[in-house]
Amino acid sequence: MCGIVGYVGDKLARDVVINGLRRLEYRGYDSAGIAVIAGGRIAGAKRAGKLANLEKALEEDPLPPATTGIGHTRWATHGAPTDENAHPHSGQSGRVAVVHNGIIENFARLRDELEAAGHNLRSETDTEVAAHLLEDAVSGGADLTTAMQQVCRRLEGAFTLVALDGEDPSRVVAARRNSPLVVGLGERENFVGSDVAAFIEHTREALELGQDQVVTITRDDVRVSDFDGRPAEGKRYHVDWDLSAAEKDGFDWFMRKEIFEQPRAVADAMLGRHDEQGRLELDEVRVSDDELREVDKIIIVGCGTAEYAGLVAKYAIEHWTRIPCEVELAHEFRYRDPILTRNTLVVAISQSGETADTLMAIRHARTQRAKVLAICNTNGSTIPRESDAVIYTHAGPEVAVASTKGFLTQLIACYLLGLYLAQVRGMKYGDEIRSIVGELEKMPAHVQRMLDDAESVYELAAELQSVRSVLFLGRHVGFPIALEGALKLKELAYLHAEGFAAGELKHGPIALIEQGLPVFCVVPPRGRDQLHAKMVSAIQEIRARGARTIVLAEEGDDEVTPYSDVRITLPVVPTLLQPLVAAVPLQLFACELATLLGHDVDQPRNLAKSVTVE
Ligand code: M6R
Repeated sequence: MCGIVGYVGDKLARDVVINGLRRLEYRGYDSAGIAVIAGGRIAGAKRAGKLANLEKALEEDPLPPATTGIGHTRWATHGAPTDENAHPHSGQSGRVAVVHNGIIENFARLRDELEAAGHNLRSETDTEVAAHLLEDAVSGGADLTTAMQQVCRRLEGAFTLVALDGEDPSRVVAARRNSPLVVGLGERENFVGSDVAAFIEHTREALELGQDQVVTITRDDVRVSDFDGRPAEGKRYHVDWDLSAAEKDGFDWFMRKEIFEQPRAVADAMLGRHDEQGRLELDEVRVSDDELREVDKIIIVGCGTAEYAGLVAKYAIEHWTRIPCEVELAHEFRYRDPILTRNTLVVAISQSGETADTLMAIRHARTQRAKVLAICNTNGSTIPRESDAVIYTHAGPEVAVASTKGFLTQLIACYLLGLYLAQVRGMKYGDEIRSIVGELEKMPAHVQRMLDDAESVYELAAELQSVRSVLFLGRHVGFPIALEGALKLKELAYLHAEGFAAGELKHGPIALIEQGLPVFCVVPPRGRDQLHAKMVSAIQEIRARGARTIVLAEEGDDEVTPYSDVRITLPVVPTLLQPLVAAVPLQLFACELATLLGHDVDQPRNLAKSVTVE
C-alpha cells in the first residue's frame, strides 16, 4: 500500500519521481504528490485521485528545476483521499516534506502533544505528526538523518518514511519499520523506493534494508544506521529483471500481459530445481533434512489468492507426504493462539513478501519456535528475510493488483515443496517423484494451450456482460479454483461472485440457483471416478434448476457434454495439477469482463497490490 520514491542525483527529480510513481501506482492510487528542493526551499504539488491528476497539475503549474525529490501514491488509511490528506506532508514552517507508508499507531497522542505545543496540523493523516516532529528536530539544529533517528524512536506501528529538508538539497533520508523500502544504487545518483520498480529504469543494483533502519542517500553515497545512530549494513543484490518486465509490452493491461506470461513463469519457477533423474534440489530450503524429517504438522498461511494456493497445496502435500496440513488465513491464524511446536512447519505464501497479516503470522510462529518457510516472488522482501527458508517463485514482477502468474508459480512452489518433503522423508520412490516432475514439466505447454483458446473465453465474457451474479463450483483441488475464479471476478468486475465446494450445494447454496444464472463448474479429471461422477451429478442438479452451466472439463470427457451450456476444454493432466490449467480461463474471463465493463483492470477500486497494513 502506498508507493514511495526518493531521488538524489544529476537528473531532473520531477521526471525521475513521476516515472517511478507511475511504476508504483499499483500500490495505491487514491492520491499522489511530489516535493523537490529548489532555491533552498521545498516546492511541491499533490492531488486527490490517480497520478494523472497530479501530472496535469504539474503541467499547469510546473515545479522549479531540482535534482532532489520525493513522491508518493497513496492508499488511504487515516483520512479520506483528498488533496489535503495527500502526501507529502510538511511541518509548521514547510521546511521539511515527508511521505509515508504504514500506520503510526501512537499518532493521536503525538498529535495532542504537538497541538498543545502550538502546532497547527492541517490534515487528518497520521503522517503529518512525523513531519512536524522532524521539522522541530531540524529547526533545533539536527541534520535530517539525526532528526529521522530521533523521530523514529518515538513512533509506534509500521512505517516507511522518506523526508527532505528544504535547507539541505544534498540528501534524502528514509526509515523503515515493518514496511517496505529498498535503495537503488546508481552512478552519481541514488534512489529509495517501496520496491525496485521505482528505479528499475535507472539501475538494477539494489540494497536491502533491515528492520528499524535509517538510510541517507546523497548523490555519491548511501549510509545506513539503526534508529540509535549506530552504523549498519544493507545487503546488496542485483535485480534479475529489467525495465521491459515492468512495462505493458503492447498489452492493454498488465494483468493480461501477466496472464500471457504464465507459460514462461511456470517454467522459470521449476528451472534448476531438479536433476535429470527428477530428484528435487531446493537449495534455498535452509531447513536441514533432519529437521524436515521431524516435521509432524504443516500450517500454510496466506491471504486472498495466496491462501487459495495454500488450499490446493494441502491436497498435494498431504497426499504425497502424509503429514497433516492445515491452511489458514494469516490474519485469523495470528490472533487465535494456534498450537505450534518446534516440529511444526509454517509455510507462508506471499507474492509481495510484504503482506502485513502474513508477516505478523510468521513472526508469531517463530516466537513459538515453529520453523517458517516462505514461498515468495519478491527477492529481499520482508517475509522471506524473516523466514528460516524460502522458495522464490521467479514469476518476475507482478504489477496488476489481481494476482495471476503469482498464483500459478505459487502452486508450482507448493508442489515442489510437497515432493521435496516426500523425497526427504522417503514417502515416495524416486520414479514416482520423477513421473510427477515429468508432468509438471509439461505444464508450460498446457498453460499455453489454455491461452491459445483465449478468444472463446473473451466471447463468453462479451455474452455475459450484463450478469450481476456468477457462481463457481469445484471439488477437491477444483474447490480452491472456484474460490479463486470468484475472487477475480469480485475484485475486477465488482460482481457478486461466490465459489463453492460442489458437495456443499445441497446444504444451502443451491437456493441461489435461478433461471439463467451462470455457474462455472470445474470438473475433476475422469481418472478420479468418484469425484468426477459426483461433480457431474452436481452439474445436472443445478442445470435442472435453470443454471447456465459453463463447464471446464478435460478433453475427451463426453459425460459432461449433455449438461454443458458452454464447454471449456482442459488438457488431460493429473488431478492434483489441474488447478494450473483450470485457473487460466477464469483469469482471462475476469480480465475481459472487467475490460468490457469499462473498469480499470490493473487498479481496481479500493484495492492495492501490496497490503502492508493489518
Ligand atoms: O502479496 P500477497 O501474495 O501476500 O498478497 C495476498 C493477497 O492480498 C492477494 O493475493 C490478493 O488477494 C490479490 N489481489 C488477489 O488477486
